[in-house]
Amino acid sequence: MTRPLAYFEDPSPGFGALPPRAIGRTDAAQVDLSGTWRFHLAGSEDKAPEGFWDPDFDDAGWSDIPVPSSWPMHGHGAPIYTNVVYPIPVDPPRVPAENQVGDHRLVFDLPEGWPQTGRTVLRFEGADSSLRVWCNGVELGISRGSRLPVEFDATVALRPGRNVLAARVHQWSSATYLEDQDMWWLPGIFREVTLRHRPDGAVGDFFVRAGYDHVGGSGSLLLEAAEGVRVVIPELEVDAESGTPVTIPFVEPWSAELPRRYAAEIRSATETVAVHVGFRTVSIEDARLLVNGSPVLLRGVNRHEFHPRTGRVVPYQTARSELTLMKRHNINAVRTSHYPPHPAFLDLCDELGMWVIDECDLETHGFELQDWRDNPSDDPLWTDAYLDRMRRMVERDKNHPSVIMWSLGNESGTGANLAAMAAWAKHRDDTRLIHYEGDWTCAYTDVYSRMYAGVTEVEQIGKRIEAPLDDPGLDARRRAMPFVLCEYAHAMGNGPGGLSEYQRLFDTYPRLSGGFIWEWLDHGIPVSTPDGRAHYAYGGDFGETVHDGNFIIDGLVFPDRTPSPGLVEFKKVVEPIRFETQPDGSVRVTNRHDFRDTSHLAFRWELAIDGQHTDGGPLDLPVLRPGESADLTLPIFPPERAGLPPFEHWWTVRAVLAAETAWAPAGHEIAWHQGRTDDVIAERPFDADEPTAPVVVEDGRVLLGPAEFASDGTLLRVGDIEIGCPSLELWRAPTDNDRGKNPSVADRWERVGLDDLSHRLIRAGAYDHSYVVHTEVKPAGGTASMANTYRWQAFGNWLRLEITMLPEGEWTVPLGRVGFKLGLPAAWDNVEWFGRGPGEAYPDSIAAARIGHYTSTVDRLQTPYVRPQENGARAEVRWARITGHNGRGLQLHGEPHFSLTVRRWPTKALAEAKHTTDLADSGELHLHIDHVHRGLGSASCGPDVLPRYELNAVPLSFAVWLRTM
Ligand code: GAL
Repeated sequence: MTRPLAYFEDPSPGFGALPPRAIGRTDAAQVDLSGTWRFHLAGSEDKAPEGFWDPDFDDAGWSDIPVPSSWPMHGHGAPIYTNVVYPIPVDPPRVPAENQVGDHRLVFDLPEGWPQTGRTVLRFEGADSSLRVWCNGVELGISRGSRLPVEFDATVALRPGRNVLAARVHQWSSATYLEDQDMWWLPGIFREVTLRHRPDGAVGDFFVRAGYDHVGGSGSLLLEAAEGVRVVIPELEVDAESGTPVTIPFVEPWSAELPRRYAAEIRSATETVAVHVGFRTVSIEDARLLVNGSPVLLRGVNRHEFHPRTGRVVPYQTARSELTLMKRHNINAVRTSHYPPHPAFLDLCDELGMWVIDECDLETHGFELQDWRDNPSDDPLWTDAYLDRMRRMVERDKNHPSVIMWSLGNESGTGANLAAMAAWAKHRDDTRLIHYEGDWTCAYTDVYSRMYAGVTEVEQIGKRIEAPLDDPGLDARRRAMPFVLCEYAHAMGNGPGGLSEYQRLFDTYPRLSGGFIWEWLDHGIPVSTPDGRAHYAYGGDFGETVHDGNFIIDGLVFPDRTPSPGLVEFKKVVEPIRFETQPDGSVRVTNRHDFRDTSHLAFRWELAIDGQHTDGGPLDLPVLRPGESADLTLPIFPPERAGLPPFEHWWTVRAVLAAETAWAPAGHEIAWHQGRTDDVIAERPFDADEPTAPVVVEDGRVLLGPAEFASDGTLLRVGDIEIGCPSLELWRAPTDNDRGKNPSVADRWERVGLDDLSHRLIRAGAYDHSYVVHTEVKPAGGTASMANTYRWQAFGNWLRLEITMLPEGEWTVPLGRVGFKLGLPAAWDNVEWFGRGPGEAYPDSIAAARIGHYTSTVDRLQTPYVRPQENGARAEVRWARITGHNGRGLQLHGEPHFSLTVRRWPTKALAEAKHTTDLADSGELHLHIDHVHRGLGSASCGPDVLPRYELNAVPLSFAVWLRTM
């Protein structure tokens, strides 16, 4: 016999909810019920207190909890992380008996003079996952749909003076099957609860349709609301009744670049609601995405709502600074993956300017693991729930100009319920486009959206020559759609690599409307080791049995929202001003904004010689409209004319904000470009073609200039300093991307033993002024090997080391790096270099690193990826010094350059560490001098390293100079 369904297993959206509506800043009475509530957590329904909703129930033994909150973040239970797999047995709509019940109670006083007429509603902005509510013992209703608001009519239940609210929240419910997003499972009432008076004749729901005619410059306005309700925009002298279309001869349109809003009021006889109106029109023309008649390029990110300390509760200031940070990094679009955000976030997007794909709270991804059998998306049992979710999102958010597309949800397969959502939304709001990635036929969407498609396929789509769909009608329809990559470039750990290649396509093909990096934020949770050292936790760290490890750590910003190198790279790659050096040495400046001219920018140039600033000043440029270019002649003299020695002369041009904006101060850099006026190839540091010292063999020791070797070729010391002997390195601590595929390149490295090279001396001998050491390097498990030659020469007090690597046998795996390592004294803490910086850079993520002269410390060179992995390489280093406080140390010089990494632990330790606190100072510095690195790619979810950034075992030779100081 099947067990009857519990109320929270009912697949319907619930009961008692009022029709969803838009809200704004109302003058009707309102009480924010956020604050400290009483809380009781039970492990299952049968252990939950009976009758706790009774106003006289004694909750003295309960604890306090803030509302809003995610209860596992307050010591009740623990977070659980899964990506695709459901954390519960899949038996829809049933959930297991082990199902936490969070009972919440609040005693509050209705304010004096609370209106006696009209109605009073109780509004929850979000409760995860099933919510049941009582007021003074009277049940008001049940709701599911965690990231969506719900209102209940509390009029009859409320009393003057003291009132008691009770809310029961279940961790799992039927809604769990629809909310399988890749994130922490965090139950609780995590958004505000308010009590709202609704006067008789209140405004009710309202929809301000505000379009823009880009040809004539007029605005169109239509208020949809109850009869008698008016929209008033004083600045435009608009006062129009609902249902009456208005044309305003001239308005300034809204765009993410110029987010012009007009203050407006929605008025009924008894209520005034303050809103903002932004005029804009979204359309598709010739497979291009247009807003206000102009093509739009989305430089976007996927944003989850998560805070490392409070879980799903994201404070307003955090959201605001997040958007500010995005704007500062040239980001112009957000997909609210994978549910509607806190409503204030959309206000911020309207205000600061951000294109938004507002996504419905829907994901049934776990059903893919059973080939989509029983997928709710195609089961009539769930139709109401699907439609209810779409309605609640659209009705809440329809007045936001920033929202240009409604997304049905994420990874929910295909099916009639999705089609029904789309049809309803289209019918309700024909001013926006429908987005959904999960159905590649695009049968019910307006844009063609994909995730993680590789550059080859994206280019075909850009050219409109992609493989056809079976159905010619659908194919023709899809071919006429603009394309977005709703997710690409998986920002997990070190990466993503290959952003520039995507951007080149976006910039080339009008059909490609850009994309959204996956994702904005690492969802790490701060915890401490038993001895009190802090680190971020990820899946499995809270004892979850089923979990997806650190796949939750895949953002462009670290959990504390500090930018990762990936964000810095993205900023550079998407910059809306493009500089290109022309063959005649001039610089072409192109305005790649979609709406904005360049009058808000100031242009500057500067010159640095060997990294030292020598000159600079403003640049005069005509104001460029979107798409326009101008050529600049830089006021820089070639070095000969200036009579300077032939050091590297690099100029930098920059576009900065001329004046402060709502999101950045004046002077904030938007775009930059570098070029050089000299043609110096990094000089040898010593001016002689031939070595200056012979090799001397004496008492079993080998002396060469400042160096001393053992007879087996091992370097013993340089001058009076012992530095470890260089040895070839082909492996790196795998990045998350190296670990990405199955089998991953990291697995393959391990299988062939690339992480465990044996070095065998073949012979060492003096040849004239060179000391040459031949070794054979073999991965522990393989048959392939490298014939390796180290050729040492002395030039004054410099040593030149040339390494030649000749692969032998069959190399079946790409290499992680080609370089060598040296051990240095731990006290040499200062690192100085001339090359790319200030941040790390790898072959396919190097756009943001500029040539300069930098200083750092060993510790600051490390990028604290939440799960430790290869990091911190400084690219194209011409020279470097690693010194202690007394100035002693090692100087390196490239021929012409090398990649520099210094850390306090060996590669093995870095590879084995699970958390940053696992990394311990080994008592020496590990210096890596690499000739080349494998690219990063994005294989943790998506394409691997592009062929041009792959590192195969081929014959190579490179040289580095070193001396001690
Ligand atoms: C996508 C999914 C995201 C996230 C990402 C991998 O398939 O839509 O939610 O799981 O992969 O991090």
